[in-house]
Amino acid sequence: MASTGIQRFQGKVALVTGGASGMGAETSIRLAREGASVAVVGLPDDPRGADVVAQITDAGGNAIYVGADVSREADCDAAAQAAVDAFGRIDLCMAAACILNAHYVSGEVPDDALAADRRAGHIINKPVEFWEKVLSVNLTGVMLTNRAVARYMIAQGDGGAIVNISSGAAKIPMPGSAEYSVSKTGVWMLTRVLALELAPHQIRVNTVAPGVIDTPMALGLSQDEERRAAFERFVPLGRLGEAEDIAEATLFLLSDHASYISGQILHPDGGLFTG
Ligand SMILES: NC(=O)c1ccc[n+]([C@@H]2O[C@H](COP(=O)([O-])OP(=O)(O)OC[C@H]3O[C@@H](n4cnc5c(N)ncnc54)[C@H](O)[C@@H]3O)[C@@H](O)[C@H]2O)c1
Repeated sequence: MASTGIQRFQGKVALVTGGASGMGAETSIRLAREGASVAVVGLPDDPRGADVVAQITDAGGNAIYVGADVSREADCDAAAQAAVDAFGRIDLCMAAACILNAHYVSGEVPDDALAADRRAGHIINKPVEFWEKVLSVNLTGVMLTNRAVARYMIAQGDGGAIVNISSGAAKIPMPGSAEYSVSKTGVWMLTRVLALELAPHQIRVNTVAPGVIDTPMALGLSQDEERRAAFERFVPLGRLGEAEDIAEATLFLLSDHASYISGQILHPDGGLFTG
């Protein structure tokens, strides 16, 4: 595969959830470019998954697509097993699978379903099913993914590295999005607990908490010049983030360059949530 010259992940195997799109896709491609074999995990039948795998394999890298709903324990266990069946082991994990709200479908612009979620408004009126759906994917899904891969890492006996994707929403309360904010704060605390629990096995666990990034989850912000300009005025570095910005932060934390870093949160956000 065409490389950047840096090969930080030669011989390593990575599992990336949310790998069919956005930052998960970009990180999968960059991991493969630097030598990793990648299990790209996304929802079953997501056509974007095959595109990501093709981008990697067409360039000479190794990748498979694994369909899994991360809110289901059996799917997470099967995804980890599929990575091991294909590549023999698991060394690295990025857990990026997520929904913005109970009706979010990645890659679609806001529609009636999203509007229904918004109409439900604040937590005092929202159906509890909306809350449970978001927590099951965004928080339980990260926990299930982490432990599925960690079990293999522990058995292998030579360490590993995990990056969980949180959000600036983990520290900024967002009225109308309690379930999302709470899930992302939960990811941060889960990361810290796991960092301590897995440290004896030399498995490092860190969090990347992005600002606003131009992916499907930004819901077309980058295409709307007026909204984009208004937003960028609030970002100290003056631009919307790109999936590449998150991939680079994640690759650093997964690499041996971060071999003494665990239990930390990194905010690639252009300075947005500083202070
Ligand atoms: N884009 C932003 O502005 C932004 C900001 C802060 C944090 N984040 C976080 O970044 C991460 C990646 O999101 P993104 O911005 O790349 O958007 P995205 O929509 O491209 O990625 C989310 C991925 O998760 C997948 N997914 C959803 N439910 C799933 C399930 N049950 N099982 C398996 N996969 C599932 C989606 O199909 C999609 O591929 C998420 O954790 C998100 O919360 C995004």
